[in-house]
Amino acid sequence: MDYTVTAYDSVDSTNRIAKDRALAGAAEGTVIVADRQEQGRGRFGRSFFSPLGTGLYMSVILRPAFSPDCALYITTAAAVAVAETVEELTDESAQIKWVNDVYLRGKKVCGILTEGAMDGDALHFAVLGIGVNLTPPPEGFPAELRNKAGTLFDRPCDKREALLHGILRRFFQYYDHLAEKPFLDDYRRRSLLVGKQVQVLSPDGLPTETVTVQGIDDNFSLIVQDEHGPRILSSGEVSIGGLF
Ligand code: BTN
Repeated sequence: MDYTVTAYDSVDSTNRIAKDRALAGAAEGTVIVADRQEQGRGRFGRSFFSPLGTGLYMSVILRPAFSPDCALYITTAAAVAVAETVEELTDESAQIKWVNDVYLRGKKVCGILTEGAMDGDALHFAVLGIGVNLTPPPEGFPAELRNKAGTLFDRPCDKREALLHGILRRFFQYYDHLAEKPFLDDYRRRSLLVGKQVQVLSPDGLPTETVTVQGIDDNFSLIVQDEHGPRILSSGEVSIGGLF
């Protein structure tokens, strides 16, 4: 699929702009990129730290023809596309923390936020937002992120364009065959959590219980074992020892 990129210096949120464009009729494959976001959005209503010139902040408009059940596949396909591109550019292996954070050297280097708009039972459009920490922010990460957030490179570099197009090229290859999930095995192989004990977090981020992760099922849900036996976690967030 073809895509067209519109680049901005500074925006509030590329997801916000992409949503407005989508509502105004912008085509699938429209991509918004910014050098900085003043109100970058994360999952669970959090913010996404998006300082000037050290990250890739991008949003892609999609008009999927399939059922909303497949919406999770957009996010997971993107996570694999990011991990593969990160690996190509850094020569280091990248992991995925369920559902869609990409990790390098034990630190989160990418977050993904997919937002959808429904039209009755159908998905009217989706906005796939991807934020990657490319190089260290000159003023450092805020205190609450310092132990968790990492960057692809440790000094300024000229890899942003390669990252952008590497992610988009791989993502759209998967998107063209989304219902077949050609990225499922890669997603599983990169899982940071399988075999580990994790805390299940409440929506406000507090640990509620400890479970052991056994695997990832065919719908990208987490198979976990608690004291009563195995069960499926299909959404939400988990943490390993408060670190991730
Ligand atoms: C997360 O880690 O919780 C998801 C973060 C998603 C951040 C990206 S940056 C580009 C796009 N625009 C936003 O406002 N958010 C996403």
